[in-house]
Amino acid sequence: MRFIDEVINWYEQNKRDLPWRNTQDPYLIWLSEIILQQTRVDQGMPYFYRFSEKYPTVSDFATACEDDILNMWQGLGYYSRGRNMHHTARMVMEEHGGYFPQKYDELIKLKGIGEYTAAAISSFSSNEVRAVVDGNVFRLLSRYFGIDEAINSTEGKKTFYSLANETIDKDRPGLSNQALMEFGSLQCKPVNPDCATCPLRPGCVAFNKQLIALLPVKLRK
Ligand code: ADE
Repeated sequence: MRFIDEVINWYEQNKRDLPWRNTQDPYLIWLSEIILQQTRVDQGMPYFYRFSEKYPTVSDFATACEDDILNMWQGLGYYSRGRNMHHTARMVMEEHGGYFPQKYDELIKLKGIGEYTAAAISSFSSNEVRAVVDGNVFRLLSRYFGIDEAINSTEGKKTFYSLANETIDKDRPGLSNQALMEFGSLQCKPVNPDCATCPLRPGCVAFNKQLIALLPVKLRK
């Protein structure tokens, strides 16, 4: 079985039921992805519920008072995220007629949306074929394919992105991305990964060469 099919099979059986996975609304996906930057899922979840309830549409978010948004943001840290979001919501109202963009090329132009977030929103909301490479995906790819290039070097990033774009299932890119992230997060954990129960173990270079603890490589800068 292909690597990605194995990961998607595992995902179907082991995925968490997370609220932002039950929607294709790019606004709600954006909300979840910004909240989850530097924030764990269990910590971010109540914030996602509160924000999506109080501001169910980008128009509600854009017309909110910034102090209210920043008050609700309390506990998440990095207030620039909250401020950037307000700015972005107003841009969406002014320049996109209130429709939150779904295309990567539009998303990447918005404030606070980088390569990772644009790929996540476009693939989850409209199945655009864009590989999402977060820390979980870097780790999984690095171990399975035995890549020892640094994940935070320019060259390394290129290698991992091109690998991710080769492995993505082009018929179901959104699912493929969610599955890779979830696999990295729950199964191929940073410390003490669950190799004993791992369906990818037979083909995993790091497991077979006993490199699990050494990969991924990250340069201290
Ligand atoms: N962390 C960031 N984005 C996520 C997502 N879509 N699902 C689970 N964890 C995440």
